[in-house]
Amino acid sequence: MADATQFQDRMLSLGLARVSEAAAHASARLIGRGDEKAADQAAVNAMRDQLNLLDIAGVVVIGEGERDEAPMLYIGEKVGTGNGPAVDIALDPLEGTTLTAKDMPNALTVIAMAPRGTLLHAPDVYMDKLAIGPGYAPDVVSIDMAPGERVHALAKARGCAPRDISVCILERPRHEDLIAEVRETGAAIRLITDGDVAGVIHCAEAAKTGIDMYMGWGGAPEGVLAAAALKCMGGQMWGRLMFRNDDERARARAAGITDLNRVYSRDEMVTSDVIFAATGVTDGSILSGTRREPGFLTTETLLMRSKTGSVRRMQYRAPVREV
Ligand code: FBP
Repeated sequence: MADATQFQDRMLSLGLARVSEAAAHASARLIGRGDEKAADQAAVNAMRDQLNLLDIAGVVVIGEGERDEAPMLYIGEKVGTGNGPAVDIALDPLEGTTLTAKDMPNALTVIAMAPRGTLLHAPDVYMDKLAIGPGYAPDVVSIDMAPGERVHALAKARGCAPRDISVCILERPRHEDLIAEVRETGAAIRLITDGDVAGVIHCAEAAKTGIDMYMGWGGAPEGVLAAAALKCMGGQMWGRLMFRNDDERARARAAGITDLNRVYSRDEMVTSDVIFAATGVTDGSILSGTRREPGFLTTETLLMRSKTGSVRRMQYRAPVREV
């Protein structure tokens, strides 16, 4: 007979998929309209409304910002009906606001849920990230290696030449040296303009996406979300918080972080089993974007549970009122 806890867990995960779908539905009408803020707000409102219908006693640990700067889905906000398991919630209602506003690839809505106290409370600072997909020996690459060394180590582990390795990096001036060092090895680089949660997830499906490794600085909150995804899909990831000033250091201390130089592994960012859901907003290499036809909208959602290793892809076609 099926285990009742497993069943509840599965039902809750389906509820989480509904939350990410709702955010994608709401932001779909703002794709390509040049208005980042409106797209984000629509996703936030829809995600919060749906989340509050779930039977959980949730607390947002990765959200839209501190309470004084984000009126909704702020860090510390209680979400859900309160009748259910005590959980941490990490979310990004619209990961890739500019991608959405400009109708560029890989904008997603993202949410992860894990038992209370098991997701890293990452402050809104940068994180230096390194990720690879499944199937490699533990610590085959490390964040303390130079970028070129990482490429050589991964190529050796894969049994290929460095030129056969592809690395995904956010295109930013701060990454000029990183990009130059990776290029020196002969490896290919896929530069992305935004969206490093998708960037990291690419590594977990290297055969499909063509990306073997992710490197570089991006948002620390996005780092925890990406770690949750890799925990479900397999793959290794490391992150180190990067501080540009004392204010950022103070944010980290306020979030309970004592060792500011610590390198977090995937399982130190997400210390127990996690449920992860993401819905495509614009087309991408992991998920199709929202599809419009008169009166209807179709979305694709990725729903995963690390406990079972299950990966579900769901298409949802639903009527829309405002087209
Ligand atoms: P938004 O969805 O908030 O626009 O963030 C997109 C993003 O590209 C993240 O994926 C990434 O972690 C971060 O911004 C990088 O920050 P920055 O633009 O400051 O380099």
